[in-house]
Amino acid sequence: MPNGEPFINKPVPGADQYYPLNDPAIGTPLPIKAYPQNAKVPLLFQPLTIRGITFKNRIWVSPMCQYSSDNGHATDWHLVHLGGYATRGVGAICVEASSVTPEGRISPEDSGIWDDSHIPGFKRIVDFSHAHGTLIGIQLGHAGRKASTLAPSVHTNAAKTRRAPKRTADIEDNGWPGDVVGPSAISFAEGYPDPKAMQAEDFVRIEEAFVAAVERCKKIGFDFIELHAAHGYLLHEFVSPLSNNRTDEYGGSLENRLRYPLRIIERVRKAWDKPLFVRISATDWAEGPEKGDNGEWRYWGLEQSKVYVGEMKKLDVDLVDCSTGGNWDKQDIPLVPGYQVPFAEGLKKAHPDIPVTAVGLITDPKQAEEILQSGKADAIFLARELLRNPHWAMYAAQELGVAIKPSNQYERAWMSVLTAKPVPN
Ligand SMILES: Cc1cc2nc3c(=O)[nH]c(=O)nc-3n(C[C@H](O)[C@H](O)[C@H](O)COP(=O)(O)O)c2cc1C
Repeated sequence: MPNGEPFINKPVPGADQYYPLNDPAIGTPLPIKAYPQNAKVPLLFQPLTIRGITFKNRIWVSPMCQYSSDNGHATDWHLVHLGGYATRGVGAICVEASSVTPEGRISPEDSGIWDDSHIPGFKRIVDFSHAHGTLIGIQLGHAGRKASTLAPSVHTNAAKTRRAPKRTADIEDNGWPGDVVGPSAISFAEGYPDPKAMQAEDFVRIEEAFVAAVERCKKIGFDFIELHAAHGYLLHEFVSPLSNNRTDEYGGSLENRLRYPLRIIERVRKAWDKPLFVRISATDWAEGPEKGDNGEWRYWGLEQSKVYVGEMKKLDVDLVDCSTGGNWDKQDIPLVPGYQVPFAEGLKKAHPDIPVTAVGLITDPKQAEEILQSGKADAIFLARELLRNPHWAMYAAQELGVAIKPSNQYERAWMSVLTAKPVPN
């Protein structure tokens, strides 16, 4: 052999199918020797290590319900949808909210992880993602009083020929409105199910379901778990005075409202030794001050969120994913670019020692890089922009002038990125 090693399209070692090996990994900087511009790598493309696991960059796929599961089971839609991100350079993928019990689904077509039969569908996606060098986790949740609702495209179709007069998925719509539970018997809004206030056995059942789901996550091989404690679903419902008027040890004082979510976090943490994230809504976006003149908390907001994160730190949570809203139907959200970033920044200022992610109308690579550079967050979750442009990581590399590895198969599309340039000033 005149040149030493033969020129073989090397396979990914240990993968269940033949996939060409990417070296370096997709979405990581190429060597400075070949690309002098990589002397300065934007923070977006710098790794982040959490609990000994290194995320190759800080562009992460936010969890997004696809309303496409078959009685909770992932299908080939999920493999193609999520697999497409694994091949396009993101640093992590978070699988959509997946319910730990059947009645905790938001819609009948939501993803689920309440049964062992859900394991193979997820495993196929995780194995594919790993074969392409991309970490993948899952968001575990329970929709509480916002369960048994119609998927958005079922409620109102895009052709605008059909609009349901209600949000509830009734029995005839494959729903379970009679089994919807929440901290209190307070409906989210007109047209939503009327929840039953959780009883002692519900507390135990749901808590155990979270722990059982973690055991399935281990078998599947997920790299991280995110607990869904945001957007007006069960765990958020407990912490907010708008949805929790219990008079027992789970309602009233802030300490009481935090009790059940913290217990679930504690149980999950004990069962899971890889990175654990918690997504919270840092405000209900309700009117007036978070605390009334009488000293009582009126709704959920940033000040209580800071206390909550302090408690999470004591339980060894690894990262807080900062979102907002979803628990008050009259919420008035100023939808400007990066509208939730000030909340992430607020949490980071209060707790500089725990990583925080920002999400929400972050669409521009320079905007995302500025959020990281100014220390407002440690990584960025993107949702809708990644639906529009699954290649966003490569596009960001192009915009920020850094040479990042595309997948072998897509290299010819990214010659603009794979061109050596001088060291930037
Ligand atoms: C189709 C769709 C489904 C979503 N599903 C979830 C979900 O399962 N869990 C969650 O926490 N947020 C969910 N979200 C919210 C996103 O993760 C994200 O926080 C929000 O869209 C704001 O980010 P963006 O401006 O980048 O889209 C969803 C958003 C969209 C567009």
